[in-house]
Amino acid sequence: MTTRYFSENLLAGRTAFVTGGGTGITGGIARELASYGARVALVSRRMENLEAAARLIQDAGGEAFAVAADVRDAAQIENAFNLTREKFGDINIVVNGAAGNFLCPASELSPNGFGTVIDIDLKGTFNVCRAAFDDLKKSGGCILNISATLQYLGTPLQIHASAAKAGVDALTKNLAVEWGRFQIRTNAIAPGPIGDTEGVKRLVPEHVKDKLIKRIPVGRMGVIDDIAQTAVFLCSDAAAYINGAIIVVDGGQWLAASSLVGE
Ligand code: HXC
Repeated sequence: MTTRYFSENLLAGRTAFVTGGGTGITGGIARELASYGARVALVSRRMENLEAAARLIQDAGGEAFAVAADVRDAAQIENAFNLTREKFGDINIVVNGAAGNFLCPASELSPNGFGTVIDIDLKGTFNVCRAAFDDLKKSGGCILNISATLQYLGTPLQIHASAAKAGVDALTKNLAVEWGRFQIRTNAIAPGPIGDTEGVKRLVPEHVKDKLIKRIPVGRMGVIDDIAQTAVFLCSDAAAYINGAIIVVDGGQWLAASSLVGE
């Protein structure tokens, strides 16, 4: 059981549509939103991950529903919204967590490899936001995009993900400005290295881990719960005046990334 920082019914009566909601960071966000009373639709390509994640939420007393859809396909997303609406009513919270990534030098990356990550992370985020507009306008809801810090500096082997997440940041700011007048808030979290995720398992080789941790000012990698708590806050009314913010949750890692202190 994680620490309860917020009041128990903080998100009661809200419906959240969470892409990538089965596993990793967004799996944790979905569980935490549900634990504060939100009904949660878990959306990603693989039904087997989603059903297990939905069961976990239900076993903890929450409401969850799994729907398979690829964020790259606008028609599939529209269908997932319709199914969610039928089950849980209008959608108030959208979390864009679906992402693809791998390590690859730019000189070896195929155009399709670059495009695939752009399609999932960036175009997928747009597809979902676009499909959510009418619901969010009705409910005065919010969007939470999951970005990264890769794009703040030049990160080797990550040209595809850096470009995609830079686009996600642009989209976050743009929608904040265009849709703010409909009382739709759009924000992002930029997580640093989160130790208990598939992303870090795939992207941070074992021999680099200790070196990386030494360079993180707070002296540890993040955990999924660090991101989930920030997400609960940003999706709640406590953040009612936060719009267009990209909150870095990384223990100060990227600011210290070029420092030799601790070497
Ligand atoms: C080079 C690769 C590659 C690799 C795929 N491609 N994996 N190129 N190195 N390791 C290329 C393929 O060769 C192909 O191009 C193109 O990408 C499409 O690949 P497919 O496998 O056909 O596509 P698809 O099935 O859609 O899946 C692609 C994928 C997948 C989404 C990238 O590999 C995947 O599911 N990855 C895991 C998802 C994941 O880990 N999510 C968490 C992300 S963490 P060609 O030219 O051959 O056709 C994250 C955090 C970022 O985003 C910040 C980290 C610190």
